[in-house]
Amino acid sequence: MRFTLNGKSRTVNAHPMKRLLDVLRGECGLTGTKEGCGEGECGACTVLLDGVAVDSCLVPLAHVAGKKVITIEGAAATRTGKALQNAFVEQGGAQCGICTPGMILAAAPLTSHASFDEIRTALAGNLCRCTGYPAIFRSVQSALKASKRAR
Ligand code: FES
Ligand code: FES
Repeated sequence: MRFTLNGKSRTVNAHPMKRLLDVLRGECGLTGTKEGCGEGECGACTVLLDGVAVDSCLVPLAHVAGKKVITIEGAAATRTGKALQNAFVEQGGAQCGICTPGMILAAAPLTSHASFDEIRTALAGNLCRCTGYPAIFRSVQSALKASKRAR
């Protein structure tokens, strides 16, 4: 199966029904994508598929053929991803860190003009059992504000 992973073409020989989450962590060695519930409830495994945040535990490998996948490793190399990572550190948006890659990828498609409600909606499928959500929302707001200033 061939797809684009973090900007590079990648071919993976695995069963077409294997979960994208397992392919990323196993075959591709990208362990930044986390497994929480394994059934589409927590968002810890979020990646971007053609720019849309999806739960990689629910996506079979066959579904990504010819598409673009961005994981936290790829996002971390972008300006938006870096701004989000820094903001999560500075604003206390991460504690154990299990939910953080998913939070960052769920927030990555937001524009710098996103409202608080839009931020809440974008992160609605991502659960955190450590921080409580105010610090997470504050982190995203801070990153969006920083990216607006950088324009
Ligand atoms: S591990 Fe995929 S949604 Fe929880
Ligand atoms: S920081 Fe631990 S689950 Fe969110």
